[in-house]
Amino acid sequence: MKNKLFSLLIAAIILLSCDNSNKIRSFEPGEIWPDNNGIHINAHGGGILFHKGKYYWFGEHKTEGNTGNVANVGVHCYSSKDLYNWQDEGIALAVMPEGSGSPIEKGCILERPKVIYNKKNNNYVMWFHLEPKGGGYTGALSGVAVSDNITGPYAFLRAARPNAGHWPLNASEQMKSGAIPSEGKYYGGGSLPAHPDSLNLVARDFGGGQMARDMTLFVDDDQKAYHIYSSEDNSTLHIALLNDDYTDHTGIYTRQFLGRFMEAPAMFKKDSKYYLMMSGCTGWAPNQARSAVADDILGEWTELGDPCIGDNDKKTFHSQSTFILPVQGRKNQYIYMGDRWTPKNAIDGRYIWLPLEFEGDKFFIRQHNEWSLK
Ligand code: GAL
Repeated sequence: MKNKLFSLLIAAIILLSCDNSNKIRSFEPGEIWPDNNGIHINAHGGGILFHKGKYYWFGEHKTEGNTGNVANVGVHCYSSKDLYNWQDEGIALAVMPEGSGSPIEKGCILERPKVIYNKKNNNYVMWFHLEPKGGGYTGALSGVAVSDNITGPYAFLRAARPNAGHWPLNASEQMKSGAIPSEGKYYGGGSLPAHPDSLNLVARDFGGGQMARDMTLFVDDDQKAYHIYSSEDNSTLHIALLNDDYTDHTGIYTRQFLGRFMEAPAMFKKDSKYYLMMSGCTGWAPNQARSAVADDILGEWTELGDPCIGDNDKKTFHSQSTFILPVQGRKNQYIYMGDRWTPKNAIDGRYIWLPLEFEGDKFFIRQHNEWSLK
C-alpha cells in the first residue's frame, strides 16, 4: 500500500513538472506565440478585455497567403489568467457563408475588432472596421455585434458609417455652412490635396455618416464608452460617445489631429489623464509611432511625439499599435500591443508586446527581446 502511494506521488510530481515545463513564463516579442494547442495565436489587430479574473484576447483570424488578410473565418478569441499562456476559445464572431449577401460575408475585410463589457445589460459588445466584400477599402464602415457570453457566439447587428446627420462638437461655422468644394469626391486614404477643413469632408459625409476605418474602443470610469476611429479619408481622428447599450453612436463626437492621418489608435487612462498611441498611414508597412495626452477624452489633445526609445529605424520596432493593456492588480503596469504584419502570409503576423514606462505626463516604450511582468 505504502509503495503504491509512493509511486502515485512520484507520478503526480512528474505530471506536474511536465505540465509546468510547457508553461510560457515570459514575452518574446516577434517570436511564434503558441496557444494551448501549440498553434501560433491567431488574433491580429486585436484587443483585450479583462473580466472576472481572466483576460480575453479578440483579434482578426488570418489565413495563409496574401489573401489571408480578408476575413475568411472571423474574430478569434483566446483566454488567459497570466497573459503568457493562452487558451483557444474558438471563433467569437463568424463570417457568414459566401453568397449570403451579409455585410460580414466570407471575403469581406473585418479588422481591429474590440470587445467591451456593458454593465447595464450584462452583455458584451464588439465593434470592428468593416469593408463589405468586393469594395476594397471604400466602404469605411463600423460593424457591431453582441453576445451574452464573453467568448461568443456574437450576433451581428449592423454596419454603418457613424454619426450621420450630426456635426462634431468642435465644428466651425464655416463647416456647418455645408460648402463642399469638390462635391462627393473621395481621396483614397493616404493623402489629401488640401487640408481636410478646406475640403470640408465632414460636410461631404454629413448625410451618409462619417467614414470609419482603423478603430478602438474605450470605456471610462463612469461607464461611458467611446469609439475612436480614423475618419475623413483617414486624415482626421474622431472620438465618439456611444449610447448606454454601447451598440450605437449618440451624435456626440469631436475631431482631433486634423490632417495628421492618425491610424491604429490605442487608448488608455492613467492618473485621470487620457493617452493615445497611434501610427501614421502606410498600409501594412510600419511607420513611426505617435502619442498624445488629454485631460478630457473629447479633447483638447496634445501630441507628445514618438514614444519609442532606441527604435533606430523609427518604425515602432517594426510594428503598428493595436491596444494598450492595463495589467490587473499592478499599479502603473501597461503593455503596448502591436502587430508586425506579414501581408505575404497573413497568418504568420507576429505580436510585439512591450512594457510602457512613464516620466511625468509622458509614456515611453523600449525594445526587449524577452521580458516578464514585475
Ligand atoms: C493599415 C491598417 C490596418 C489595415 C492595413 C491595410 O494602415 O492599420 O488595419 O487596414 O492598413 O493596408
